[in-house]
Amino acid sequence: MLLRVLGTAAGGGLPQWNCACPGCAGARAHPGRRRRHASLALRADDRRWYLVNATPDLGDQVEDSPELRPGPGPRDTPLAGVVLTDAELDHTLGLARLREADALEVLATPPVREALLDRLRIGAVLTPYTRLVWRELTGAAQPLTAGGGVEADAVPVSAKRPRYAAGTGPDDATWVVALRLRCTATGRTLVYAPALGHWSEEFQHAVEGADCVLLDGTFWDDDEPVRAGISTRTATGMGHLPITGPHGTARRLAALPARCLYTHLNNTNPLTDPGAPEHGLLARWGLHVADDRMVIDL
Ligand code: MLT
Ligand code: MN
Ligand code: ZN
Repeated sequence: MLLRVLGTAAGGGLPQWNCACPGCAGARAHPGRRRRHASLALRADDRRWYLVNATPDLGDQVEDSPELRPGPGPRDTPLAGVVLTDAELDHTLGLARLREADALEVLATPPVREALLDRLRIGAVLTPYTRLVWRELTGAAQPLTAGGGVEADAVPVSAKRPRYAAGTGPDDATWVVALRLRCTATGRTLVYAPALGHWSEEFQHAVEGADCVLLDGTFWDDDEPVRAGISTRTATGMGHLPITGPHGTARRLAALPARCLYTHLNNTNPLTDPGAPEHGLLARWGLHVADDRMVIDL
């Protein structure tokens, strides 16, 4: 199973257009620190690739990935569709960038699909341009392509709705899911969870069985958003378990046999500075931060 990390930043990216925090200022001064919005590309079979989430950076992310480039025919593309882990704008605005496709498969849970159709009106907006083919993402593993080499299933992780869909839909944890991807040839498994509001038993089971985990690294600690002046809510209150502290995810990841990488870093996270001592602390737990453009071959 082959994957490319297309981006590793939380909503806003690094730098964020209207932000002068130390992380964003550092990324302006040192272009190597820039991070695009969190996303993955996944090879589903010999010819076809899926994106995991569709970010506002999608055009540049595709262009920068040799395996995603079009050809040999003028409108041939290896991109077959998009798997969504939630309906947040940083994970869905890129759908509009794909409107030149003849057809586009979108795999999503029912509340995510309904939010996109009823609140964001993405179906009404995109139907004059392309054909959206919706597939339900469920807790049962399904092959992404017919006879394909990768199976996908969703592990529900939180009932946090995007702000534009506040108060709508079911009050269950299928609003935000972790995506489990399994290579049918090798049995190797990757769990992708860019937003994790709650570490459930089901999620623990999923990561225990994984060879690689890409996890929500939005905030270093629970008070970071308040301290940085970007929110009155804690990290946990925003639907992102922090890396460290009493509810921190690092100690849980450290106990797993899997290769574990943090992604979806907010621009306030000290880990956006490659020289920050927090990298040393992570490394002591055997944990690291994912990099934009890195290739994961499982
Ligand atoms: C989140 O991850 O909490 C959301 O994407 C926030 C946002 O960008 O609106
Ligand atoms: Mn986000
Ligand atoms: Zn910033």
